[in-house]
Amino acid sequence: MNLKDEFIQFFVNKGHVQIPSAPVVPENDPSVLFNTAGMQPLIPYLMGEAHPYGKRLCDYQKCIRLTDLDSIGDSTHHTFFEMLGNWSLGDYFKKESISYSFEFLTKVLHIPVEKLAVTVYEGDDKIPRDDVSANTWESLGISREKIAFLGKDNNFWIPGSSGPCGGDTEIFYWRGKGSVPERFDHDDETWVEIWNNVFMEYYQSEDGNVSELSQKNVDTGMGLERIVAVLEGVDDNYLTSIWDKPRKLLEELSGISYEKEKVSMRIILDHIRTSVMIAADPAGIKPSNTDQGYILRRLIRRAIRHARKLGLDMNSNWEEQLALSFIELYENYYVELKQNREVVLSVLKTEKEKFSKTLEKGLKVFEKYVQNKKSIDGETAFHLYDTFGFPIELTKEVALEKGLEVDEEGFKKKFQEHQEKSRTASAGKFKGGLSGNGEIETRYHTATHLLNAALKKVIGPSVHQMGSNITEERLRFDFPCDHKLTEEEKQNVEELVNTWIQESIPVTKEIMEKEKAISSGAECMFIEKYPDMVTVYTIGDVSKELCGGPHVSNTSELGHFKIIKEEATSAGVRRIKAVLE
Ligand code: SER
Repeated sequence: MNLKDEFIQFFVNKGHVQIPSAPVVPENDPSVLFNTAGMQPLIPYLMGEAHPYGKRLCDYQKCIRLTDLDSIGDSTHHTFFEMLGNWSLGDYFKKESISYSFEFLTKVLHIPVEKLAVTVYEGDDKIPRDDVSANTWESLGISREKIAFLGKDNNFWIPGSSGPCGGDTEIFYWRGKGSVPERFDHDDETWVEIWNNVFMEYYQSEDGNVSELSQKNVDTGMGLERIVAVLEGVDDNYLTSIWDKPRKLLEELSGISYEKEKVSMRIILDHIRTSVMIAADPAGIKPSNTDQGYILRRLIRRAIRHARKLGLDMNSNWEEQLALSFIELYENYYVELKQNREVVLSVLKTEKEKFSKTLEKGLKVFEKYVQNKKSIDGETAFHLYDTFGFPIELTKEVALEKGLEVDEEGFKKKFQEHQEKSRTASAGKFKGGLSGNGEIETRYHTATHLLNAALKKVIGPSVHQMGSNITEERLRFDFPCDHKLTEEEKQNVEELVNTWIQESIPVTKEIMEKEKAISSGAECMFIEKYPDMVTVYTIGDVSKELCGGPHVSNTSELGHFKIIKEEATSAGVRRIKAVLE
């Protein structure tokens, strides 16, 4: 049986309900590009809201982490990966959680006890040392020498800079050949972390204040690619059974063995797999120059450059064959791969055709330019971007291979100048004619922030935007909530919004550093993937949100706010449609 199925079966037998993997693109949440952990879609429930499926949940979750993009090419990093997780939402706590993990590892995966070691939280001035976890591990047969107490850097988990959090216990596996040392040494990399059990009992706000959550939760995460590598006894994740078929296919397509071109092959495999997952996502992301679309473009273009390095024929359907091998591998777990198969193939093909035309020319320009140079100036980097479609990261990579630096600041300056110019040009073009449309939508944007704030007051602080859509006719807003709103709740929300409109509150816009935005308390859950400079819109002391805008300058411009529909979109998610009259 596949490890994912074994994991789910084990926890279902322990009274957990399997929940489906959330999409990789969080629906319309502007503060994060991709889902980075299994717990991310569960935040409202960790904060105390009732989950429609109960208090014991398990899943395998599609995750994308961009922090590791530069490391792709080594033997252990991936942009896309799957995380196995089980949760207790105010149900069982440390003892049961640790016992379940221990049983799964030793009885289902048959890992010998002596190959396991753990770390637990040593505590700080606010949170006591976690003796309960240590004692539980010991009672199960993990010797004291294999239990290390570590501090906040190692054994405390929080999603980004604020949110539900707590001390954790991490489980390590001895990867070495031969006998296992008696004593666990956390600094010895032969011990690899395989599972993380977080005991989420606190909430840390942006200003660093820690308070107790209304319930004690367990959040565990086990990276699938790593545990499979460990169990199959390989040091290189790309040599596990997960990658067998696509890797062999790539060897066949290129006529080169994996051993010879590991780095390029890992990049191609990783990036095509991630691109397949992004392109298949219900969000309908297409390669573009912003946000998720830009990441998708970067991934495909980098894969293409490495494919070209391996001598793959750009006129052949290599990308399609690779994509199909990934679709085949995952379609029984993620139905969207089946549903959006044609979309995925066409996204890859179109982007390949677009880029392979200019890649060749761009590389020639690059070669010519770099003769006798030590660095690439901003203008050339921008020229490669603008004319030949080289993402700046790609230019940096090609430069690095030649031992050259790229003037990134210079590039940014050119880039901004260019944006200013095209903004002025399009502003001129649309003056008069289309501006009316924009005005109505602008009002709806601001009304959406007020609605979010009102719902938080009426329903509870766990309300946040899960999706939003604005047309000239109405706004639409999705948020987590376990019940149908009562007439009274709807009325209270309308009244609050209309009061704020009548109070003529100014709406102010501030562009600031992301860190400052966080510490000023602007709403956004996962900021790590947001650009360094962000726009924050503040509506008096009613609302402060990170947002791209546009917004009106005073709430008095909005008119009268009315909810026209309230319905469920999926389990635990409600949708409101509202108009301004
Ligand atoms: N949230 C923790 C992690 O991502 C456990 O799931 O490691």
